[in-house]
Amino acid sequence: MPKITFIEPSGHAREIDAAPGQSVMLAATGAGVDGIAAECGGSCVCATCHCLVIEAPGGIEAIGEAERDTLEFTSDAMQASSRLTCQIAVTEALEGAVFQVVGH
Ligand code: FES
Repeated sequence: MPKITFIEPSGHAREIDAAPGQSVMLAATGAGVDGIAAECGGSCVCATCHCLVIEAPGGIEAIGEAERDTLEFTSDAMQASSRLTCQIAVTEALEGAVFQVVGH
């Protein structure tokens, strides 16, 4: 299982073991990572799973059109590295990835 680190809103870094096949959001919320409300349950409409990609040494799947639209319309904190973690699948390529929680 890839290890993924989340920097919580408090600044605390939390490393989790994420099971492949689920979304990064579900891996984070299942591990109790703080600051990811995921209000829409992963339907790509709320942006409360918003994180910034700080590091992704193995690469990360490209942002989709729906994900970009949701970020643009719902998040005033959108940055070039912004992603909705419910739209990213956990794969072994995410080993060592670091996400900063933005949430809401
Ligand atoms: S959980 Fe709502 S957009 Fe990701």
